[in-house]
Amino acid sequence: MADGFLDNNPGGMDLDFENRMVTASSLPEDEGDNPLRPRLLSEYIGQEKVKENLSVFIDAAKLRRESLDHVLLYGPPGLGKTTLAGIIANEMGVNFRITSGPAIERPGDLAAMLTNLESGDVLFIDEIHRLSRSVEEILYPAMEDFAIDIISGKGQGAVSIHLPLPKFTLIGATTRAGQISPPLRDRFGVVLRLELYSPQELAEIVTRSARILEIPCDSDGAYEIASRSRGTPRIANRLLKRVRDFAQVMGEGRITLDAARKALKKLEVDELGLDTIDRRMLKAMITHYGGGPVGLDTVAALIGEEAITIEDVYEPYLMQIGFLSRTPRGRVVLPGAYQHLGIEYNGQLTF
Ligand code: ADE
Repeated sequence: MADGFLDNNPGGMDLDFENRMVTASSLPEDEGDNPLRPRLLSEYIGQEKVKENLSVFIDAAKLRRESLDHVLLYGPPGLGKTTLAGIIANEMGVNFRITSGPAIERPGDLAAMLTNLESGDVLFIDEIHRLSRSVEEILYPAMEDFAIDIISGKGQGAVSIHLPLPKFTLIGATTRAGQISPPLRDRFGVVLRLELYSPQELAEIVTRSARILEIPCDSDGAYEIASRSRGTPRIANRLLKRVRDFAQVMGEGRITLDAARKALKKLEVDELGLDTIDRRMLKAMITHYGGGPVGLDTVAALIGEEAITIEDVYEPYLMQIGFLSRTPRGRVVLPGAYQHLGIEYNGQLTF
């Protein structure tokens, strides 16, 4: 389907999670040879500490003519983990091979990938926390000793074959660092945490993307999009493209502050980047449970969403802006959210 967004939502209203304007999950349009993806560290905006450290590690490895140590990138979705991994491969001048935890079903799948690597290559495993235990066990010696042991044949005739591998760099990415088993985590020499971006950084990203896409964009128009993008470049770039549609069809083809505001209103993304689902979730917690504490599964049932999606996608930003708190007794809506939604707050926070 070319455009699930339109097909599933003829009225353009009340988008489900997969088609949400502000979802940080990648959609087909985000994948592939994306011209917006920076290729060099110097083109990558934000994450200053991560960049500073990485450039030292990359330069040092190049000086010693070694492969880079294994790298674990973690943080919320949409912050540029895949982009950064691609940049590392590019800066090292090696091949970039991409896969993901759920895509590697059997140990043999991983063994085939590993034995096809060339010296120095970067193997990127997205959602590395979703590797099965048996696949993970192949990774340990591969990461540590650059070798794997494969069992060939069955029963009494089975033989173990020790297969040396070229020196390679594994880059793992995860939104859930806590779900990575300790033996796997310990085998990464470099562990980097990506943070949500500031509106200023996102405005720079929007301006850069607008230039690449040849969309005329004023600086305050860019800032307006940036400040509603939940600290996430993937959302900022998506909103930019949709705001461009409105500006071209209903405006003068230029993203001004006014054009951005009008388009974002049509897209039902409010001044803080909340969409109808965020607002519905908060309102339901207030209306039905007095603002909480509400158990995660109850919140999930209230809005018909999976608990894990709520934890990974909706809550980090709502917590970051002080609208929601996770407590041992459940989720609690904070006074700032009441104010934002125009609901009088007269409860007591009892947690
Ligand atoms: N596009 C997506 N993320 C980016 C970043 N951090 N810098 C520049 N362009 C980007």
